[in-house]
Amino acid sequence: MTVIRTIAIVAAAATLAMPSVAAAPDTIKARQANFKAMARSMKMISDELRKDAPAFAVVRREAAALDRAAARVGRYFPRGTGAEAGVKTGARAAIWAQPAAFQGAATKLTGATKGLRAAAAGTDPARIRAALGATGATCKGCHDQFRVPD
Ligand code: HEC
Repeated sequence: MTVIRTIAIVAAAATLAMPSVAAAPDTIKARQANFKAMARSMKMISDELRKDAPAFAVVRREAAALDRAAARVGRYFPRGTGAEAGVKTGARAAIWAQPAAFQGAATKLTGATKGLRAAAAGTDPARIRAALGATGATCKGCHDQFRVPD
């Protein structure tokens, strides 16, 4: 093995050994901002649907933003980003104790936001409303199980 290769391997090992908790507060902040943005998109869509003449362009834009944000949720919870990170978080330990159930809840969300995005491609308020309700149910489903109640 060459010296350079050995140095590269040692450096890589050192990087892997670095505690991920160093970045945990940043990860937690980023995921909370992502959730806030999702809540904002849900509200904007809901507000439009309440109008006599909803701006479907806004509905479409927010449904797309929501779908993109939803796709990130499952990746925002690496180990070390729970209460042990030392910053305020609503993430329950169950997320890491039951990772398959948590990822399942995240997959339900993305399934629903894809449905909402598809509904928002059209201009049928009832269909969009139903898809929005289905999306909201997946938010609640995960919160009931994996988020610390306020
Ligand atoms: C797979 C699980 C899961 C799904 C699905 C989910 N959430 Fe959450 N949500 C959480 C967890 C866990 C937290 C706590 C995060 C933290 O504080 O670190 C949270 C926190 C939040 C927060 C508070 C963020 C903050 O500023 O502290 C809002 C708002 C929120 N979620 C909205 C939503 C909305 C809206 C949806 C659906 C469109 C949704 N969530 C779907 C798990 C989920």
